[in-house]
Amino acid sequence: MIVFRHLCVLVALAAILASGCGMPHGQPSKDSEVLAPSEVLEFGTLYAENCAGCHGAEGRGGAAIALNNPVYLAIADDAAIRKVILKGVPGTAMPAFGQSAGGMLTDAQVKVITKEIRSHWSKQGILDAATVPSYAPKSIGDAQRGEVAYKTFCESCHGPGGAGASKGSAITNDSFLALVSDQGLRTIIITGRPELGAPDWRGNVPGRPMSDQEVTDVLAWLASHRVSNPGQPYSASNYTQHQEPQDVRRK
Ligand code: HEC
Ligand code: HEC
Repeated sequence: MIVFRHLCVLVALAAILASGCGMPHGQPSKDSEVLAPSEVLEFGTLYAENCAGCHGAEGRGGAAIALNNPVYLAIADDAAIRKVILKGVPGTAMPAFGQSAGGMLTDAQVKVITKEIRSHWSKQGILDAATVPSYAPKSIGDAQRGEVAYKTFCESCHGPGGAGASKGSAITNDSFLALVSDQGLRTIIITGRPELGAPDWRGNVPGRPMSDQEVTDVLAWLASHRVSNPGQPYSASNYTQHQEPQDVRRK
């Protein structure tokens, strides 16, 4: 039995050696050529390697919003999406991918991603003739009116003051707000996060879609909870504790 197995191994080895004989050493065969990263133009590969880690496989969402949300694709045009991919969103986890902004993707690659996000995941007629708030704000928000709108549209899930409740997480605490841009918040208020059960602007109160102004005002109210030093007082007290005396004197 053992001898027989050795024989099999030898035959297999011989087959491998024989098949390799026709090829000059060190030269890859034609079909094994690998593209340089900047030459990859296939959407699936580009998306999986650069975006899926945060936006989820197949755009289904993860730490960051789902990009396969057809409502999102109906309100955000290619120019807006392309700009975010090229330049990122400063102050958030969204990196700049354009080479011009220090990223790794060529303009051609960013174009493919932008175009194919839409061709893969948008749905014609998804807005159903509804009046949809605009992607970018059209007016100035009013935080006081926003607080009223919050109570009407959001409090049932996110709790009094946005502090979080059983149906929705805390959205006014400074560490959450520190990691998200105003546009990022506006996007979520309009499009919801269907992958997590968060309703879009039509679904907070059934039969009562939010107006553009209400979206803008709620955002102003949320943003009014931003603080200049997020994470305080914890980081401040740590900082003081670990200071050497001469550092304290430098103040
Ligand atoms: C490290 C995590 C991370 C990676 C990787 C990442 N994103 Fe993002 N992305 C985010 C976050 C976080 C936001 C929300 C930023 C904000 O607050 O506005 C975002 C926002 C976006 C938006 C804008 C949403 C809006 O409000 O209009 C688009 C479009 C987007 N990402 C596309 C991509 C694409 C395409 C890729 C891959 C080329 C990618 N992202 C890779 C984290 C990531
Ligand atoms: C029917 C319940 C419900 C209503 C109403 C609702 N939300 Fe949400 N919301 C959710 C759920 C569920 C999530 C996703 C999970 C989580 O973060 O709690 C979410 C997520 C969010 C997030 C992202 C939080 C994060 O951690 O990424 C924001 C911001 C948000 N909602 C704001 C609002 C605002 C503003 C309103 C009112 C205009 C609103 N929501 C109304 C249920 C709701």
